Amino acid sequence: MTQERKAILTFNDGTPPIELPVLSGTLGPDVIDIRALSKHGFFTYDPGFQSTGSCRSSITYIDGDAGQLFYRGYPIEQLAEHSDFLEVCYLLLYGELPTGPQKFEFDSMVKQHTMVHDQMNRFFTGFRRDAHPMAIMVGVVGALSAFYHDSLDISNPHHREVSAFRLLAKVPTIAAMCHKYNVGEPFMYPQNRLDYVGNFLYMMFATPCGHYEPNPVLARALERIMILHADHEQNASTSTVRLAGSSGSNPFACIASGIACLWGPAHGGANEAVLAMLEEIGDESRIGQYIDRAKRKDDSFRLMGFGHRVYKNMDPRADIMRRTCHEVLDELGLHDDPLFKLALKLEKIALEDDYFIEKKLYPNVDFYSGIVLRAMGIPTNMFTVIFALSRTIGWVAQWHEMIGDPENKIGRPRQLYQGARQRDYVPLDKR
Ligand code: CMC
Repeated sequence: MTQERKAILTFNDGTPPIELPVLSGTLGPDVIDIRALSKHGFFTYDPGFQSTGSCRSSITYIDGDAGQLFYRGYPIEQLAEHSDFLEVCYLLLYGELPTGPQKFEFDSMVKQHTMVHDQMNRFFTGFRRDAHPMAIMVGVVGALSAFYHDSLDISNPHHREVSAFRLLAKVPTIAAMCHKYNVGEPFMYPQNRLDYVGNFLYMMFATPCGHYEPNPVLARALERIMILHADHEQNASTSTVRLAGSSGSNPFACIASGIACLWGPAHGGANEAVLAMLEEIGDESRIGQYIDRAKRKDDSFRLMGFGHRVYKNMDPRADIMRRTCHEVLDELGLHDDPLFKLALKLEKIALEDDYFIEKKLYPNVDFYSGIVLRAMGIPTNMFTVIFALSRTIGWVAQWHEMIGDPENKIGRPRQLYQGARQRDYVPLDKR
């Protein structure tokens, strides 16, 4: 019988050593189970959770050194090539690829929920027309919990499933409504004759005045973007959703918290920031200047779309995105797109630069996704919204997994307190 592997924590001040179990997953590094530490009066200190695994999960696996990403064991390259978005949603949610009848039923269920409560239309008018669509998304997705009381009991598996379908089906509708509200066009009701991605493009770009059919090349490109963004294990927004959910909050509120976290430029806001950066650089002759800025310690500028907490090799999603970018620009006759050329040049220069090589900073998924979305006519302020609607299924699947996990507890980290020691209150006239 093999001996159970243990880590032994020793101290240099006579404190007795502490034995900690070492746990193994199916893939990836072993983890030291530190749960017993608090019983010994210790906590760990790990800002940014760089060395912390917060849960067990069977959904997504990333090997950052090898540049691999699997959803339920399937490599992302195969899913992006052969699957459609709703099939990937099924896989993430239930753990297996669907059979034909299962897929038909799943797609039909999603279609049943694509409309939002009509009263929600009025909710939008409370926002300024020029509000960032992510600001509207945070509010309106959170407000779903005020409209769908009949699926809020998180201890009821049927309620949980209905909420999952509602989120999956309604978030694209809300996302398109954000855009329409921004540009002052009427909301377009979902068209269930179209598939998931085609319907989203319809709600974004159709108007009541004319006929609209989604371009299949562009629809496939958007579908690929959605598949690539569907889940990414315990990233900041997913951890936010899990933390919000750990207190028993309803799923609509939890997903709204994920959207809020995703908005930041270090996370989902990066695709928007990449485009702003490329526009600011403007010309190949200025690339060197921006690379120098990215390297300087006294300058907060970072090369947006480069670097990743987990990938220390090429982000596998970035390769697929670059190819998709070529396809879309060819379809639209934009192969000479100056921003795309600038991006290719910037990528080449950075990949050959010692600073980026040493720090293992490679292009991430967002480096090219913005160029694809822009070519499709999607305004820059909608880029992160598209990330949010793609990631909704990942958040929902992770939330489901957490609710079903017998080890789930309210998330409650501790701290290293460095404030004042106990002191007595001084009345105002004595200070
Ligand atoms: N440009 C220049 N330097 C960088 C960059 C960059 N994009 N990213 C990291 N570095 C440097 C950083 O200054 C640090 O240097 P030093 O060791 O000298 O202090 C070193 O590389 C390690 O960086 P870090 O900030 O400690 O790494 P992190 O894991 O905390 O941050 C990151 C990861 C993605 C937030 C960061 O790489 C970044 O800000 N990238 C730009 C924003 C971006 O593209 N975000 C999208 C991520 S992919 C989509 C998603 O999952 O949301």
